Amino acid sequence: MTKRTLKRLDYKPLDFTATQVDLQLNLDLPVSRVQSKIKVKRLNTEATSFVLDGQKLNLLAVKINGQDWSAYVLEDLEGVDGFQNLKIDVSSLSEPQEFTLEIENEFNLEENLSMSGIYLSDKVIVSQCEAQGFRRITFYFDRPDCLAVFTTYLETNDSYEYLLANGNLLESGSLNNGRKFAKWHDPFPKPSYLFACVAGNFEVLDDYFITKSGRKVKLRLFAEYGRLEQIRFAMEAVKRAMKWDEDRFGLEYDLDIFMVVGVAYFNAGAMENKGLNIFNDELLVGCKDTVTDDSLFSIDSVIAHEYFHNWTGDRVTCRDWFQLTLKEGLTVFRDQEYSSDTVNRTMKRIDDAEEIQAYQFNEDKSPLSHPIRPDEVESQDNFYTSTVYEKGAEVIRLLHTLIGEEKFQQGMKLYFERHDGKAVTCEDFVEAMADASGYNLDHFRLWYSQSGTPEVKVTSEYDPQTKVQKVTFVQETAPTFDQQEKQPLTLALKTHFLTPEGQTLTNLVDLQGKAIPELLVFETKELVVEIANQEQELIVVTNLDFSSPVRVIQQTTSSQLATVAAHCQNLYGKYFALKEYYNSIFRLNEENFVRNSQAQLEVDEHFATIYKNLFALALEDASFTSAVLRFHNVSNAITSANKAVNPLVYAQIDKAIKTKLYQDYKVQLEGIYAQLPFRTWEYNSLHFGERALRDQLLSLLTISQENQELVEQLYTQASCYNDKHAVIKAIINNDLSALDYLVDKFALEYQDTASCLDELLTLRLKNAKSVAQVEALLANAKQFSITKPNSLYTLIRGLRLNLNLFFTKEGIEYIKELIIKVDKNNPGVSPYLCRSFANYDLYLDPFRQMVIDALEDLITNHTFSRNATEILNKAFEAQKNNCQVRE
Ligand code: ARG
Ligand code: ZN
Repeated sequence: MTKRTLKRLDYKPLDFTATQVDLQLNLDLPVSRVQSKIKVKRLNTEATSFVLDGQKLNLLAVKINGQDWSAYVLEDLEGVDGFQNLKIDVSSLSEPQEFTLEIENEFNLEENLSMSGIYLSDKVIVSQCEAQGFRRITFYFDRPDCLAVFTTYLETNDSYEYLLANGNLLESGSLNNGRKFAKWHDPFPKPSYLFACVAGNFEVLDDYFITKSGRKVKLRLFAEYGRLEQIRFAMEAVKRAMKWDEDRFGLEYDLDIFMVVGVAYFNAGAMENKGLNIFNDELLVGCKDTVTDDSLFSIDSVIAHEYFHNWTGDRVTCRDWFQLTLKEGLTVFRDQEYSSDTVNRTMKRIDDAEEIQAYQFNEDKSPLSHPIRPDEVESQDNFYTSTVYEKGAEVIRLLHTLIGEEKFQQGMKLYFERHDGKAVTCEDFVEAMADASGYNLDHFRLWYSQSGTPEVKVTSEYDPQTKVQKVTFVQETAPTFDQQEKQPLTLALKTHFLTPEGQTLTNLVDLQGKAIPELLVFETKELVVEIANQEQELIVVTNLDFSSPVRVIQQTTSSQLATVAAHCQNLYGKYFALKEYYNSIFRLNEENFVRNSQAQLEVDEHFATIYKNLFALALEDASFTSAVLRFHNVSNAITSANKAVNPLVYAQIDKAIKTKLYQDYKVQLEGIYAQLPFRTWEYNSLHFGERALRDQLLSLLTISQENQELVEQLYTQASCYNDKHAVIKAIINNDLSALDYLVDKFALEYQDTASCLDELLTLRLKNAKSVAQVEALLANAKQFSITKPNSLYTLIRGLRLNLNLFFTKEGIEYIKELIIKVDKNNPGVSPYLCRSFANYDLYLDPFRQMVIDALEDLITNHTFSRNATEILNKAFEAQKNNCQVRE
């Protein structure tokens, strides 16, 4: 496929724009018909023609001001994606400043398996337009800077009970020919990516919310039949989010109705269409009896995320897709704050830091590295990354840390004052923040354009003579695949100094007697902090609460880690000391395990104290302890290694560590397990923590096939899905085959809940021994469908976790075939599969080479969508460049 690199700096405003769109959609199978009446306004008086975007459309008619118009060219662009340009010449118009353009076209709804545009999810007709799905509906200025007021008329046969679109309902009713209609109007100008429509039959939950100015907003949730009890939680989340946005950001909802629809076939998590959010039903449907606590937490935060987009995304949107982080980074920051305020701030911070370190840091190191505001891309769809979202949120958080909550809120206010109803850039956002806070953010802006993870090296020298401790922080960002030159960034490092006994010292002063602040802010390469009057060398614990998205490199001894783990007042500091220690066990044992996979695990003298202390705290802070146990897993160890490793050896070491923990702390762990209470279910951090700890402990206690009676007991005692899920996890991961009957029971009990069956399938795939077994599992999974995104995510998740199968010839072959098959129908999902092959630098040969060979075969012998091609090519090219550098 020929390259078609899009560049941020090539942005050109539209010559013509739409101001009003009257859309008439006759939603029928297999083919649907569209009439679009667009009020077009000329913005550039020189211009005499314009181009509309289309994809796989059948054009029927073009009219201007009611007259048939033949001065157009329809161009089919090259490639498998079916992109089209409709170029319309209006030079012969006497009044080209403003005119009405009518387009009539058809598209094949039934054959659209891309889950983009308008498509079928089971029996529901549903749309997904971000980023460029609208062009699969009709020819349009399908870019975010074209803002128009939409009126949507939907017509279907009368088997669909609900016909929904953005905004407020104007009228609806039956037509006498067995058909029905509904007409919706959204008064807020919006880009096409926020358009939505739905036709289907649903279980509906109604409620309302009174806004702070006293307006009554109707709330409606739509899900599959029979799920009423399972959307009550989401409804509570909607109301919680609406209230929180008023309280914390002063932002009030603006339409008369807010609707959320859940569908089974959906590429992404959810979508913030104005007034009509559409969700992957896994992120909408669930209650304590059908989903894990983690899933409920996700439902809560994604509901909030999409709702928050109403202001940060819909009211103020992005000028072009390079600015995606403008809405996503900011909205992720907002949903993180929501979860922090409503559940548990520290644990949320730890989870988010974990996530970014596990995924985003890898992305930075990989051939797919890019800044949060990228400069170039082949396909817009490939922007929905951990960098744009999660690192984007960290950059907003850093800004928040630098200027403080009050100034930040003033900045938000100014941002809305200036840009409400507009499509703007990241630059506009930063400017509003700078102007409102009076803080000079010139240097800070580099975070938007520079990719890569800064490393901060922390070194310390203590002089017993002068009693001065000199601590040096040096930041350096290594060149990334996309960008060679790097500069120092604005950093804020929350730092504590601990005595060797573990006491956190405050009131430290430098040589001039000036107080050393807790937050160290600098934008130079190096920062030196000299601490005066110290009788002994202090332990430096920095980047607490992940105050900047950097990797800290520090020579901390095991003994220091043990001190921090035991005494640090900041839980984040404690957590990462424990994690660092866990990772150090891998380094210590690597060589031995390479030589002998059955080697005896070696640990140093601090192991015993560290884990004894950890478990002593377990009942007091179950959330924390369970989170610590959760990072005890091989994927985590591999991504934290910061060098290429043998993944299979790492898996063995991980197992050996867990076995040792069990053997050494058996009695203590059994005691804790027995004391964990079974409480009446509530959505709060305390309950979450206890159940999470029960889950972690059950797996640990059964690692050597012992304690199987605990598993049976838990299944009987369980009063929520989380506990039942813990049961099947322990049975399958620890191969407790005598208890397989419980797994069967589970499968029967949840036979109607796809998400539960998917979780079961993930566990089984993770432990499958061969591709034949994988295929048998899929054949027997009735919820599985090769066209269903959630099925594919389950499959690839299971395979990625199954290191022993992933790194075999047949395993890799299987994933290759999968990519080829999936990409034909759904280029929204295939890039996600392709990404499994982009992180080969994490692995030593022969594992690395196996992945590279797979990439080479895919690229040389097959053709893919633009989305997949970009990922595969980048991944493969980088390896070639890399080799050249090495030689
Ligand atoms: N805007 C949506 C959200 O983050 C995600 C849309 C995903 N679209 C895509 N093409 N991947 O809330
Ligand atoms: Zn979003």
